[in-house]
Amino acid sequence: MPIDLRIYPDDCDAFGHLNHAAFVRLFERARWDSLAEGPGMDAFQQASAWPAVRRTSVEYLAAAFPGDVLRFEQLVTHVGRTSFTMRQSARRLGDDRLLAAAEFVFVCVDRKGRPVPVPAVIRGLFGSEGGDGASRLTVHGVELSVAVEGEGPAVLFIHGYPLDRTIWAHQVAHLHGARRIAPDLRGFGRSDAPDLGYSMATWADDMAGLLDALGEDRAVVCGFSMGGYVALEFARRHPARLAGLILVDTRAAADSEEGRRGRDAGIQLVRDRGAGAIAEQMLPKLLAPATAKRRPELVAQVESMIRRTPVAGIAGALAAMRDRPDNRPLLPTLEVPVLVLVGAEDAITPPAEAEAMVAALPGAELRVIPDAGHLTPVEQPEAVTREMAEFLRRAGGV
Ligand code: MLT
Repeated sequence: MPIDLRIYPDDCDAFGHLNHAAFVRLFERARWDSLAEGPGMDAFQQASAWPAVRRTSVEYLAAAFPGDVLRFEQLVTHVGRTSFTMRQSARRLGDDRLLAAAEFVFVCVDRKGRPVPVPAVIRGLFGSEGGDGASRLTVHGVELSVAVEGEGPAVLFIHGYPLDRTIWAHQVAHLHGARRIAPDLRGFGRSDAPDLGYSMATWADDMAGLLDALGEDRAVVCGFSMGGYVALEFARRHPARLAGLILVDTRAAADSEEGRRGRDAGIQLVRDRGAGAIAEQMLPKLLAPATAKRRPELVAQVESMIRRTPVAGIAGALAAMRDRPDNRPLLPTLEVPVLVLVGAEDAITPPAEAEAMVAALPGAELRVIPDAGHLTPVEQPEAVTREMAEFLRRAGGV
């Protein structure tokens, strides 16, 4: 839950900037306020487990001044046996500027300072995992948050930019007869977000590592938009593990020169003004105009998904998309069943892109989903799940 705190002159240095040590205190104040508004300030006392800070890392991105009101967001990103990790961010209300991002690692100890298990209450706190059946798996040294549902042949769902696995909520809940695996890519949702190291190849290898961790040799790989770029990279790097492909609102071509310049401008924008500025830029393009008008709750859901995406993930994804290869030569070499889905009103990867892919893919099927823009799985979830179920049935035993 967000916590708003005001900056006072006694938080500031001689130049009137919020002091860096005072900032750490404000992060702590925000954690206490979250406890006070949630399970109570005595939640740790009740469990006889005290969270001792083991590591603090703060990135200070911009100055704050007396009178500014900062919005603090807190998210538990990892819960181990005796330790847990919390990510916090502080934005200024008003210009929505990201001022600092921090990570705190805590070890729970008893009164004698001996490590004790993390209290159960922490697992449900501050928006940590839980509730949607997600778990955390370490893949290539990075913890990924992943929802896994059902039994049957594996279908791996890869979300797009700057989104997370929740875009597949309907498919994960209802695509029966398959083992549905929906991770947050590194840098997104509740997965770890390292500062560097983003590329299509890294994500494709993460997906192969995730299948290893889940004991799956092969999977139908389903990628939405940027997730489609990852799916095609997976097809190039791990062809023996690909049982089929579902490409949703995506394209095979690389970025144009103008597109690459746009990615660089996006990197600058997110570094200067945070994920909120990316939300403003992307929202008008993601949904069909009629959806945006008729379904404000969907707009709010997508907006908050973008706003909670780590800056490192957004900047990393923009660079990875800018540098991705042209996948058109790969298409005719694919020897698996392929379904291509596209929203009839997709403004980012329009139906012409889908048609071009199908023309180059031997035996691929194209389905155009009416009344949907770019975010087809969110705008028309039932139709998308139905098309996928029919494709899996037709493809039989993939
Ligand atoms: C996405 O939806 O994943 C991105 O908008 C794709 C892109 O920008 O190329």
